[in-house]
Amino acid sequence: MSNQNQRLDEVLSAIDAGFDASVDRLSDILRIPSISTDPAHDEDVRAAADWFASEFERLGFSAEVVKTPGHPVVFAERPAPTPDAPTILYYGHYDVQPADPLEQWNSPPFEPVVVDDAHGGRIVARGAVDDKGQVMTFIEAFRAWIETTGGLPVGIKVMLEGEEESGSESLDGFLESHESRLAADVCVVSDTGMWNAETPAITTMLRGMVYIEAEIRGPGHDLHSGMYGGAIANPANVMARIVASLHREDGSIAVPGFYDGVQDPPASVLEQWKGLGFDEAGFLASAGITAASGGESGRTMLERTWSRPTLDVNGIHGGYTGAGAKTIIPATCAAKISCRLVPGQDPTTIEQALRHHIESKLPAEFTVEFINHGMNPAVVVPADSPWLSAAKTGLAAAYTTPAAVIGTGGSIPAVGDIQAKLGMDALLVGFGLDDDRVHSPNEKFDLRCLRGGIRSHAGMIAAFADHPTA
Ligand code: BES
Ligand code: MN
Ligand code: MN
Repeated sequence: MSNQNQRLDEVLSAIDAGFDASVDRLSDILRIPSISTDPAHDEDVRAAADWFASEFERLGFSAEVVKTPGHPVVFAERPAPTPDAPTILYYGHYDVQPADPLEQWNSPPFEPVVVDDAHGGRIVARGAVDDKGQVMTFIEAFRAWIETTGGLPVGIKVMLEGEEESGSESLDGFLESHESRLAADVCVVSDTGMWNAETPAITTMLRGMVYIEAEIRGPGHDLHSGMYGGAIANPANVMARIVASLHREDGSIAVPGFYDGVQDPPASVLEQWKGLGFDEAGFLASAGITAASGGESGRTMLERTWSRPTLDVNGIHGGYTGAGAKTIIPATCAAKISCRLVPGQDPTTIEQALRHHIESKLPAEFTVEFINHGMNPAVVVPADSPWLSAAKTGLAAAYTTPAAVIGTGGSIPAVGDIQAKLGMDALLVGFGLDDDRVHSPNEKFDLRCLRGGIRSHAGMIAAFADHPTA
């Protein structure tokens, strides 16, 4: 029997007894609008970093808000209690997405509220699940261990980033200049989802991303559409044609070279995914629709979102978009285009291919300007590591259903950087649900997931302590 089990039972009781206070602390940090992409919120981003640093100091960690060329990184640590105990590096992000469109929120995005519902209530605010609520799952687990037993059975390092939602641009440099300080046995990340509310999940695949903006320019200025219409190529019409040329009828992507090197997951993995029993209707309902009408034909929904690359237009702007009618041929039109990448695709190659494709569709005398909004490759985490087994053991502290091993369509640029630069495996254990409205109005975190997440981290700490490094 595990030597940590009895202490863990006490820790779990303390978590339940202190749960209301945990919700209050989460509410505190949710009140700080740490929107990393908007310079108007730079002070708030800094305040959120300070809030987390003080929280760690209160728990007896040494903590520092480390400057970067962009937003700071919060680094905190508590040494291992014994030389043979492992050290775990926890990663999360304290920045959030913008809250727009504000009018679609039922309560102000930075005034968290607990709403009662049929499954124990939910906390609603921007950042509730992505990622402040999930960061609090491990912080509250540390607190319960420390307050119940006087310490932690493993060494802990924490790195909280303030630029995840805007592309993690300063993280590479931070990892390079703090490599030895960040040394650990494994990196635990809570920024993904559960399989469903009863089934925890360990995510072993993340898609990568290439995000570009293309602005095309035709005439020297906006023109009267009666005087010039019919004689002059219209940049908005041309952009529509370019966007239409990006996909084929069957939903596949028509950019030459886009699929070069794409690797399908091993047959055993595809077989395992079939066994998960995906609730397609529930997934579609979480998007507010009833029938799937997009995506590549001949692929299951899980393949489409986990292991196939995509190309999506996030927004198109140009010409007259104000009230009423104005008759012009606009001088410019721009599109924001993002691709989700899978193993085998090189971000730089995909970016070049996309640029060439757009350039090849331009009429004579048209020009195009590109802005790069970030690139990172897909990530695969080994599914057979002893740390993953320990995590599964630990999750039993909170869930009776065993953990599912899953993929995800989302991206976390830091995970690839951590694996490449620090040479350690990542362990992605997250507690979000499909209907959490991540990045959308009325983002929420179920309180049952918050509690389950805290209990899970408490359990994983016990399991990690019982599986010291070989
Ligand atoms: N936590 C998400 C990633 C995620 C979402 C994982 C859903 C699993 C399920 C993360 O904060 C995020 O939104 N990432 C961005 C990355 C981008 C800004 C480079 C994304 O995926 O769009
Ligand atoms: Mn996130
Ligand atoms: Mn996010």
